[in-house]
Amino acid sequence: MNKKINKTGDLSKGKGLAGGLTNYGDRDFALYLRRSFAKSMGYSDESLKKPIVGICYTESGFNNCHRNFPELLEAVKRGVLASGALPIPFPVTSLGEVFLSPTSMKYRNLMSMDVEEMIRAQPMDSVVLMGGCDKTVPALLMGAASAGKPAVMLVAGPMMTGRHKGERLGACTDCRRFWGRYRSGDVSTEEINQVEGRLAVTSGTCAVMGTASTMALIAETLGMALPGSAAIPAVHADRLRAAEESGALATRLIGSDLTPDRIITRQSVDNALRVLLAVSGSTNAVIHLTAIAGRLGIDIDIDTFNTLSDETPVLVNLKPVGDNYMEDFHAAGALEGVLRAIADKLDPDTLSITGETLGERLAKPLSDPIDHTIIRTVQDPIDPLGGLIALKGTLAPQGAILKRAAASRHLLEHEGRAVVFSSLDDLSNRIDDPDLDVNGDDVLVLQNAGPGSASAMPEAGYLPIPKKLAAQGVKDMVRISDARMSGTAFGTIVLHVTPESAVGGPLALVRTGDRIRLSAANKSIDLLVDESEMTRRRAGLVPTAPIAERGYSKLYRQAILPASKGCDFDFLTKTKTSA
Ligand code: FES
Repeated sequence: MNKKINKTGDLSKGKGLAGGLTNYGDRDFALYLRRSFAKSMGYSDESLKKPIVGICYTESGFNNCHRNFPELLEAVKRGVLASGALPIPFPVTSLGEVFLSPTSMKYRNLMSMDVEEMIRAQPMDSVVLMGGCDKTVPALLMGAASAGKPAVMLVAGPMMTGRHKGERLGACTDCRRFWGRYRSGDVSTEEINQVEGRLAVTSGTCAVMGTASTMALIAETLGMALPGSAAIPAVHADRLRAAEESGALATRLIGSDLTPDRIITRQSVDNALRVLLAVSGSTNAVIHLTAIAGRLGIDIDIDTFNTLSDETPVLVNLKPVGDNYMEDFHAAGALEGVLRAIADKLDPDTLSITGETLGERLAKPLSDPIDHTIIRTVQDPIDPLGGLIALKGTLAPQGAILKRAAASRHLLEHEGRAVVFSSLDDLSNRIDDPDLDVNGDDVLVLQNAGPGSASAMPEAGYLPIPKKLAAQGVKDMVRISDARMSGTAFGTIVLHVTPESAVGGPLALVRTGDRIRLSAANKSIDLLVDESEMTRRRAGLVPTAPIAERGYSKLYRQAILPASKGCDFDFLTKTKTSA
């Protein structure tokens, strides 16, 4: 640890309103004009002399998960004001997972650019990042990492569960479970309509260990959020206290050198990967963490990931892998419980924005005992191996991801006949066709759903079990695609196949009837077709990556990197960023 780090902010070092002046060729005029316009908002001279904490604000009528933000914002402001700075909220893009087409993933980088530029262009000495829904936390962290000002991540917190016929329901593992039962005829239309109103019953992010929960834990493990804040439910009074303290902390960071590049390091990224594996977090988090790390020139390579996976047990008994919800995880000891369980595998010298090292944090006595029915010990894990693994092979030369912990044990070593769908449209047109030639041992393959495809890598990797097989009781099949999967889903599902089919990867060459072999033990995924036949097919391949003529879609098409590089834009990663 660098002992020279200035842990405590000095408010006199803040530039406040005089930071980053508008260029009129006359600095005094620019400040005079800025102060004049700020006064039109009713600020006093006294207020305008203070250093400024910006608040990246992502409330939106299209983002149910951020419904608690008006109240949280007031608490953040209270914390900033009480600590001697001026809080100024500003809007940035908000991404509500289910309200965006073709997928929120297409807009994560847009949001990150908005965040980076607005933090850099506006006069603020530090910033609180308010996010929560799946893509917002990575976009905020990516933007803040590139902007380089001291930043504090504050998440919305998870939803509470609803009730239905005596059982608890939480978005969105139970959404999928009930939808699967409805498709197989086990649940009536009347009941599915009833369930629709009971899955997401409070503000906050999805109630299971999905992408939002995983990213909240990753943000705290990286050191970018207040210790203990990641899992506090959205509606809990402690969430408001965490917001107030986040505002105070952002004020203390003014003048400090605890910028994101001091916090997000090779070591803290490895710690975050360990936590991702121990909580059996979302596969999406691998892409997002790769993109966040990439903003600071830190690579995540497949072999290191698999080594960490083989050394890190799954400890957390939460849906979709286990039985419980985020509210239970919070009460059981939350991230602190996980960090303590795997402390000997973590780098203790990583810093948090509080200025404290992880080792210093974990040396403090626990205020509450850990509930080991929900956060298990290393001696009594849910699974002795990590929840996710990377696969390589002739079908995915640059890698693919399998959520091992959410897969059916009997399918982890499997060879089967491919049944291929060439696009999402083809999938939806044929998957429930009673004449579809498919059986439960087959391998369902979806092409053209990766980041470079027209659909921009949606969460479509959870291919539905064909209706006629579902009706026969088939619950899981090996499913392979270059798409993503919701962190709340489960099954033996191989995702993020790279290179993707839209750019001519081997996935594009699979034909119905080919044999495919998955081996979780060997971490391999192979297309069992000989090279001469592959060469013949490759020669006849027609590229499917679309060409966009204008706007953001054009930028996206020109700059999108593969899943193995976090799906960032090539000009935003550290090596290509100069501003
Ligand atoms: Fe926002 Fe799940 S829809 S976190």
